Amino acid sequence: MKNAWKIRLAERRDVGELLGIEEAQFPEPWTRRILLDEIENTETRRYTVAVENKRIVGYLGIMFALEELHVNTIGILPPEEGRGIASSLLDEAWADAKERAIKRATLEVAVSNQRAIDLYYRYGFRPVGVRKNYYEKSNEDALILWADLSSEPPEPPSTLE
Ligand SMILES: CC(C)(COP(=O)(O)OP(=O)(O)OC[C@H]1O[C@@H](n2cnc3c(N)ncnc32)[C@H](O)[C@@H]1OP(=O)(O)O)[C@@H](O)C(=O)NCCC(=O)NCCS
Repeated sequence: MKNAWKIRLAERRDVGELLGIEEAQFPEPWTRRILLDEIENTETRRYTVAVENKRIVGYLGIMFALEELHVNTIGILPPEEGRGIASSLLDEAWADAKERAIKRATLEVAVSNQRAIDLYYRYGFRPVGVRKNYYEKSNEDALILWADLSSEPPEPPSTLE
């Protein structure tokens, strides 16, 4: 079925809605200033938003460095989780990364954030290490994940296993 939302590049005017998602979804939300700096730094960043009925329902922030990308942030409006919005943002970003000949992707995720870890696993990310006390407020560790984008993602495990 066709998605009800559309993905486009983030713009300055989106920052208020992005701030709302940040504050709803992250224990250490980014500020308006950080978000604006990220969106406007189009040389090394690419921020996209998913828009449904004129509302931003999710966003994704990517940073590029040579042949690699770093997933800086991804957040979905809480009532809209579980509909495939994050997956569609990643699909769109991966298509763009292919055109840029990006070979690898990395990110940090809180060790307790199983929902996000599951999502990243489906995109071929695997753990390579831990950053101790990465999250300042909670002192929680972060898993460092990497994915190889130069090959197809591994098949999801069979439910019969
Ligand atoms: C983690 C997060 C980004 C996932 O976003 P999401 O839009 O819910 O993710 P998706 O819907 O693409 O995939 C998640 C689930 O939806 C399911 N799904 C995918 N497409 C679907 C569809 N069309 N209909 C119903 N369910 C679907 C997936 O199978 C998956 O199932 P799960 O319940 O087993 O996890 C979101 O929960 C979030 O914003 N969390 C808080 C912020 C955060 O932790 N960000 C990551 C920091 S590193």
